[in-house]
Amino acid sequence: MDAKTDGGAAMPAGAAMVTADGVPVKMRGSNVNVFYGEKQALFDVGLDVRDRHVTALIGPSGCGKSTFLRCLNRMNDTIDVCRVTGTIMLDRTDIYDPSVDVVELRARVGMVFQKPNPFPKSIYENVAYGPRIHGLTRNKSELDDVVATSLQKAGLYEEVKDRLDEPGTGLSGGQQQRLCIARAIAVSPEVILMDEPCSALDPIATAKVEELIDELRENYTIVIVTHSMQQAARVSQRTAFFHLGNLVEEGETKEIFTNPRDKRTQDYITGRFG
Ligand SMILES: Nc1ncnc2c1ncn2[C@@H]1O[C@H](COP(=O)(O)OP(=O)(O)O)[C@@H](O)[C@H]1O
Ligand SMILES: [Mg+2]
Repeated sequence: MDAKTDGGAAMPAGAAMVTADGVPVKMRGSNVNVFYGEKQALFDVGLDVRDRHVTALIGPSGCGKSTFLRCLNRMNDTIDVCRVTGTIMLDRTDIYDPSVDVVELRARVGMVFQKPNPFPKSIYENVAYGPRIHGLTRNKSELDDVVATSLQKAGLYEEVKDRLDEPGTGLSGGQQQRLCIARAIAVSPEVILMDEPCSALDPIATAKVEELIDELRENYTIVIVTHSMQQAARVSQRTAFFHLGNLVEEGETKEIFTNPRDKRTQDYITGRFG
């Protein structure tokens, strides 16, 4: 993929994706199998990620939520023993096509991790890093703008605007996580992946991040792994339930929690396991 062009021309192009009922699909996994060495962690997973929706991935620990999430921006590439088969589309692009530039892919599909992981640099530099390495700004004043805008979108600007030169690691946990979200936003991603982004946060910081996720949905497609069913119910429009490496069912969040089709989903949401 040539990042400097519109990205379309050289790519193996498919048709624009929609669901059966005509909703635009941003990412589509088909027949996704993932292996760690001999051990298979995902079995033939197919999932549509709707454009500008929040999709929650839920299920008991070890069922493959993080594994699937990492397929969506090829973070599994960084795990030596990991092998992925099947197809994952981002718009019209097969992201596992050899022509895809993984660095560019990860700018389009950003990631926020469980434990806030700001760089050991200033608040400003944490956010400026991505735009700088991707050459997104032409001068200091444009970079300043991107930093400020990203911090605003992450709901952090008012809290840090007078201390942008202070270390990001000096912020509270909740602020650090919003800084990481600002850092992800700074390169103008289309999709943001979040792997249990609130599990290291207190309830107030969690509420702030959840509110933020709801606002971000207007402009970004979000996929969030959560072990909290309450959180999935609060922030997502779609929920996918995984069990033992299988995607058991996916649907409207309200439906999954009130009227699941599969007994395994029912058992999970009523607390019978996991
Ligand atoms: N880096 C890895 N190496 C080997 N096995 C792994 C690795 N990461 C995950 N697994 C295995 O894959 C399965 C799914 O794990 P994971 O995707 O982390 O589940 P979840 O996020 O739902 O808790 C588990 O059996 C786990 O032990
Ligand atoms: Mg996980």
